[in-house]
Amino acid sequence: MAASTFFIPSVNMIGSGCLEEAANTMKQQGLGYALIVTDKVLNNIGVVAQVQQLLAAQQIESCVYDGTHPNPTTLNVKQGLALLQEHRCDCVVSLGGGSPHDCAKGIALLATNGGDIKDYEGVDRSAKPQLPMIAINTTAGTASEMTRFCIITDEARHIKMAIVDKHVTPILSVNDPHLMAGMPKGLTAATGMDALTHAIEAYVSSAANPITDACALKAVTMITESLRDAVADGNNMQARENMAYAQFLAGMAFNNASLGYVHAMAHQLGGFYDLPHGVCNAVLLPHVQEFNTSVCASRLKDVAAAMGLDVTHLNDQQGAAACIAAIRLLAQDVGIPAGLRDLKVKEQDFDTLAANALKDACGFTNPIQATHEQIVAIFRAAM
Ligand SMILES: [Fe+2]
Repeated sequence: MAASTFFIPSVNMIGSGCLEEAANTMKQQGLGYALIVTDKVLNNIGVVAQVQQLLAAQQIESCVYDGTHPNPTTLNVKQGLALLQEHRCDCVVSLGGGSPHDCAKGIALLATNGGDIKDYEGVDRSAKPQLPMIAINTTAGTASEMTRFCIITDEARHIKMAIVDKHVTPILSVNDPHLMAGMPKGLTAATGMDALTHAIEAYVSSAANPITDACALKAVTMITESLRDAVADGNNMQARENMAYAQFLAGMAFNNASLGYVHAMAHQLGGFYDLPHGVCNAVLLPHVQEFNTSVCASRLKDVAAAMGLDVTHLNDQQGAAACIAAIRLLAQDVGIPAGLRDLKVKEQDFDTLAANALKDACGFTNPIQATHEQIVAIFRAAM
């Protein structure tokens, strides 16, 4: 096993009521003026005002950038950075799901390193830590509130840039399930399947280690047990809290073991057609694992066991097949579309999508490397 370095924010708060504690911690760290990066929906329903009040109670001033697109763009990063510089903010607070966190990372990284966000595409391209960033999560999840991954859409090239950089790790992550209760069913399902994808891709990753394995399998178990309940009743706070922990565990796993072709391919669909990340992952997940079965059937059998299936009398191939069937059933139960055709994906684009997927840093740790033709075949199977 190669040596591994483990990244995680230095302070992480999870559980009911931890949002207030977070504002207090920010004060103790001497922060005084925050740029809040969020989206229009969270601003309109008053969640942004609630956070501003909590900050104000700790004498922390704030201004708001609420222009974050669901797939945050290079323009979003530019606009947020301009506001940050205008107000001379000393920290960035991201409020939302993966999109505001990723946008905020881009802003905070440029605030200290300068240049253009495109300069940082790839792995550890920056020289300095970003401006202190506090990530308040409202979905469960992308886990972007605690990772060193930042995905920004380059509008000119219609691709998602993967920026994997230890310097974009927030200093504080906040997962208060009360902020997640308002999530609609579709978003709960999509973000929950994203978390399942993180756990499974990290578990079969070529960079997996005993720490990431433990996090990944526990995440798989908790998601299997709680995602259906969280989708069925958004006010089931036990299910919401379980999903908050599960997505965080999955984040610990993939932040350190990285991901695979599900994400590498989903990023292309998201960038090309502006589709929701979690839905793309959920549709691709069983097809990529079918491809991976040739090299990691026993690992997928472990995942089946973590999903609560009795695999004692199955061989590795049968265990992997049971895992893939259980993934499909969970996706179906939470209302994920059956195939890419339902998402208006076109076969004529497969060549471009596959070429870009093979360049995405997330695919480098897939347990088996694929050819261009094999990636095209997986896209075709997922239609
Ligand atoms: Fe993801």
